[in-house]
Amino acid sequence: MHPDLDGHLFPLPAVLPDFMRQGEFTGHLAAPGFLTELLEELGLDGAGGPGHLVFGDLVFTMSRAEPAAWAQNTWLDARVVQAASIGQGAKALRDLQRNWWGHPVRLARRSALITEKLPRVSARAQVFGQAAPTAPLGSWTLWDEGWLIAAPSCTSPYPDGQPQFVEDRESAPSRAYLKLWETFTLLGVAPGPGELCLDLGSSPGGWAWVLGTLGARVFSVDKAPLEPRIAAMPNIDHCLGSGFGLDPLAAGTPDKPVDWLFSDMACYPERLLTLIGRWLAAGTCRNFVCTLKFQAETDHATARAFAAIPGSRLLHLAHNKHELTWVLVR
Ligand SMILES: C[S@@+](CC[C@H](N)C(=O)[O-])C[C@H]1O[C@@H](n2cnc3c(N)ncnc32)[C@H](O)[C@@H]1O
Repeated sequence: MHPDLDGHLFPLPAVLPDFMRQGEFTGHLAAPGFLTELLEELGLDGAGGPGHLVFGDLVFTMSRAEPAAWAQNTWLDARVVQAASIGQGAKALRDLQRNWWGHPVRLARRSALITEKLPRVSARAQVFGQAAPTAPLGSWTLWDEGWLIAAPSCTSPYPDGQPQFVEDRESAPSRAYLKLWETFTLLGVAPGPGELCLDLGSSPGGWAWVLGTLGARVFSVDKAPLEPRIAAMPNIDHCLGSGFGLDPLAAGTPDKPVDWLFSDMACYPERLLTLIGRWLAAGTCRNFVCTLKFQAETDHATARAFAAIPGSRLLHLAHNKHELTWVLVR
């Protein structure tokens, strides 16, 4: 798939389909670079159809579909709003609610002029440990010079679903730690002091560093060593070996389960699914955070199987690449 001259994967449509003119609909904003994965997940094609429309990296659907894993943000109650002038567009948005984030697909200059007339929303980096914002943040985009598409409520409180953090480039041995910071911030929970965390695929030690810094007891497993200063942290034990070799029945009991199992192992998602199935059947771990790492092809069938595990969530973090993060927190 190649972007057209404006950088869009698919030509921008000329007319609004009936379902968008007639009422509210859903907008799925693709994770950056993963529009094809999003369309595949939704079972749609890029040419549009009677119940969907692709507009830049946004996919609008008639149904109130469940949020898709490859969507960075989901616009839950999108509607078409008249914006014959810049002032009218800004007023229409302000009448709906206070905070808005523009996502221009076309008419970037006109979009910027509307943004100037709205309350300022910053995409400032947050310090890890601060809670996710609670104020609703709507999303909007200009359809043409007379109309905009606005969604007052979205699944993410962050601009385009992308939290930013004040990074710690000194202490963390790899940027992988940002995936855990983002997960804990979105969930609103993290391992507490003394909780037992298994960290599979832990080298060079970004996740172990996060967990160790939180005061958890970390048992880390990788075929490769941890960076020495991470291995030297008092609450981190490292074992050279395979995360697939760990026996769930030996690691804990249903009465005294392991608190958290983390996996960032570079492995086929299908193999990880079998491993997690063993842990769930044994009932010896409470909470799970696992990265599903895809090769050139995205394994949608395995992603669906993870998403179907009761009580769990499958999402694309802003800090994921060609990966999804599966979480089960109980
Ligand atoms: C992306 S890195 C993990 C980064 C790590 N989470 C961090 O924060 O620094 C993937 C790791 O998976 C490890 N790995 C691959 N297969 C594994 C297996 N069967 N058991 C344990 N580790 C494995 C690799 O050695 C590699 O260190």
